[in-house]
Amino acid sequence: MERPFTIAHLSDLHISLDHSRHNIKKTRSLIEYCLRQGADHIVITGDITANGEKKEFEATRKIFRNYGLLDCRKLSLLCGNHDVYGGVHRAEEILSFPKRCKTTDYDRKMREFREYFHEVFDSSEQNGSGISFPFVKVFGSVAIIGANSIARYSRVKNPIGSNGEVDDKQFERMRRTLMAEHLKEKRKLVLIHHHFNKILSNGSERTNSVWDAVERQTMKLRGKKRLLQLFAASSVDLVLHGHVHRNHEYMRKGIRFLNAGGSILGDNSAFNVAFIRVTPAGVQTMLRKLPQPAATQPTEPLLNSANPLVVSEAA
Ligand SMILES: [Fe+2]
Ligand SMILES: [Fe+2]
Repeated sequence: MERPFTIAHLSDLHISLDHSRHNIKKTRSLIEYCLRQGADHIVITGDITANGEKKEFEATRKIFRNYGLLDCRKLSLLCGNHDVYGGVHRAEEILSFPKRCKTTDYDRKMREFREYFHEVFDSSEQNGSGISFPFVKVFGSVAIIGANSIARYSRVKNPIGSNGEVDDKQFERMRRTLMAEHLKEKRKLVLIHHHFNKILSNGSERTNSVWDAVERQTMKLRGKKRLLQLFAASSVDLVLHGHVHRNHEYMRKGIRFLNAGGSILGDNSAFNVAFIRVTPAGVQTMLRKLPQPAATQPTEPLLNSANPLVVSEAA
């Protein structure tokens, strides 16, 4: 019988050398913890850097290299909106940020991302020559399918780069991939940066606030409906994402989602890792909360979908 396959899911590391330097230390701790726990594979679903800068990618690459993770069998990565457009980290950057997004060379940034971490993509199965997304990696009975949800700049639809989209061409490749005969009997795990649940504020005083409305308009994944239909039609077992800085699991239209966006930017000082264990019987998820001593922290079963639509943190 095939042994269980364990995936550690991290997201939104927001690696920076100028601010939030502690994110580097936290990332190292999380990776060490994942490896100590015997993870077979680590996935990081985007916003790997805070500002999409060369020095941040180089620092991140160095971390991965030091842990022997620059290997497509050990690590899967997605690009997040921060990796392409950067983010606002100081008050004085707010006004200039839309211009930065507008002048970002999207294709160049995507190409650079792939080049920085080429070992992680090189041997993954591509659905067409030279195409990065969706990528497919097969580990025995498990198939990992990585999609790119980072939308191009649009003055109306994506003015600050944080909205998502899977465009028509990639959607068609995803459809062919997910419906492919050789993946039919596999457990299918889809990786994507953006979330599928609605941003609400849990009935708190912030409901209907201007900020909520802004958040809703700038945190959207467009075209969710057709993706959900595709996931259902192709029997996707679990969708892993980030973008919203919270760790939780929820259901949407019968599809199971796991958000690891709170890996290091979640509540207070806690940092988290989600483990996905795939066995012939099914797909189990567990959230491990650090910090230390990690070994004494309790394991919490996820799948707490009593109120799956409550999300309020910014990405
Ligand atoms: Fe994001
Ligand atoms: Fe983020």
